[in-house]
Amino acid sequence: MEKIVSLCKRRGFIFQSSEIYGGLNGLWDYGPLGVELKRNLKNYWWRVVVHERDDVVGMDGSILMNRAVWKASGHEDTFSDPMVDCRVCKTRLRADQVIEKKGVRQCPNCGSKDLTESRPFNLMFKTYVGATEDESSLTYLRPETAQSIFVQFKNVLEVSRKKLPFGIAQIGKAFRNEINPRNFTFRSREFEQMELEYFCRTDEGMKWLDYWLKERLKFYENIGLPRERLHAREVPEDERAFYSKANYDIEYDFPFGRQELEGVAYRTDYDLLQHQKASGKSLEYFDEETKQRFISHVVEPSAGVDRTVLAVICNAYAEDQAPDEKGKMETRVLLRLHPRMAPIKCGIFPLLKNNEQLVAKAKEIVTLLRPHMTVFYDESGAIGRRYRRQDEIGTPFGITVDFETLGEKDRALLNTVTLRDRDSMKQERVSIEDLPGILAARID
Ligand code: GAP
Repeated sequence: MEKIVSLCKRRGFIFQSSEIYGGLNGLWDYGPLGVELKRNLKNYWWRVVVHERDDVVGMDGSILMNRAVWKASGHEDTFSDPMVDCRVCKTRLRADQVIEKKGVRQCPNCGSKDLTESRPFNLMFKTYVGATEDESSLTYLRPETAQSIFVQFKNVLEVSRKKLPFGIAQIGKAFRNEINPRNFTFRSREFEQMELEYFCRTDEGMKWLDYWLKERLKFYENIGLPRERLHAREVPEDERAFYSKANYDIEYDFPFGRQELEGVAYRTDYDLLQHQKASGKSLEYFDEETKQRFISHVVEPSAGVDRTVLAVICNAYAEDQAPDEKGKMETRVLLRLHPRMAPIKCGIFPLLKNNEQLVAKAKEIVTLLRPHMTVFYDESGAIGRRYRRQDEIGTPFGITVDFETLGEKDRALLNTVTLRDRDSMKQERVSIEDLPGILAARID
């Protein structure tokens, strides 16, 4: 992890938030490359979950909502972790982090046995809406995006004119005042979720749960996470919410252990029913065929953007041996990112920066490819160094314009370039006009 955290900072993927002021625990900023990677992930999720389907529509809800939402959903009363304070070193711990030796509880930080009883600590951040700061203006930063989907269920159903089964998808920020943020961005206090609420008939919940589990596993494979590092854990009844009929966690083997990427949960009719009761507004579905009204059941695949970005980076990090300028083997650090996820798809290099024709040709290729993909033009330093810089940030393809491109050695090679593959380092000669087609096919 140390190497990965260092690469993320060095190359502009992820920085500590407010770093120049000493940071703020559990909060992170994405730099120029991180933001591209994150966007690629969110766009791909949106594409397969919303655009490529007839049965899902999207929405974008507000982060602040009426406090009544959080009362009805149960978050105000129960969205908490049990917490213990050490009276000696003043560390606040999650109850499950306290160590127990011979039946005596001890602080893992200082070893003291002087600990408070465990008590619930609500994870929602409080805030006030408007000028007065009292109970009447209190609300919370949302701890999940799902609730705005439930409370807008009726509006979305009416405008989209969907029939069951159908889903509402949302990507957005969520906030949790985690007691112990840790493992880099894995457990943060501000993060993004990609959530789908898939509404269905009462008797079809288990069928759609299995369907979405398979779809979601396929998604992770399609962004480059190997199936053998992904696990579908069936959550046992005593770990599930009381209203959940079945639940899977999709887990990934991170360097710090096997941890959750996404929950795929069958939440029955609990959420819509709660909001119907609390708001007094009908959230029923009217079945035109049977003329029946009922509350839809829901299956919820809920994924973390930041955790998935971290899994993608951890999975891609590699070191191998590659020859330097003089042919001597050296260690090469690279990110074997799936081309779909790579922040920059293609590096473009004139062999020499002081040759006008080479530079002009390389810039022509930049203009040719830029409408289709993110590219990076680099003319500085030895060509091997330029390749290494791109390898380290996961750029899957490199194009070099050399004297053969200018037709100097062999007229047949005029307007051809070398196309280098990041992982195998193999080079092939392709014609410039074929580049957009070849690259588009390999990226997607
Ligand atoms: N609406 C259901 C829900 O929010 P969750 O299991 O609490 O379920 C869903 O969260 C996903 O959100 C998790 O699988 C994880 O990927 C992400 N997530 C949750 N808490 C997080 C945190 N503190 N930091 C980063 N990601 C988090």
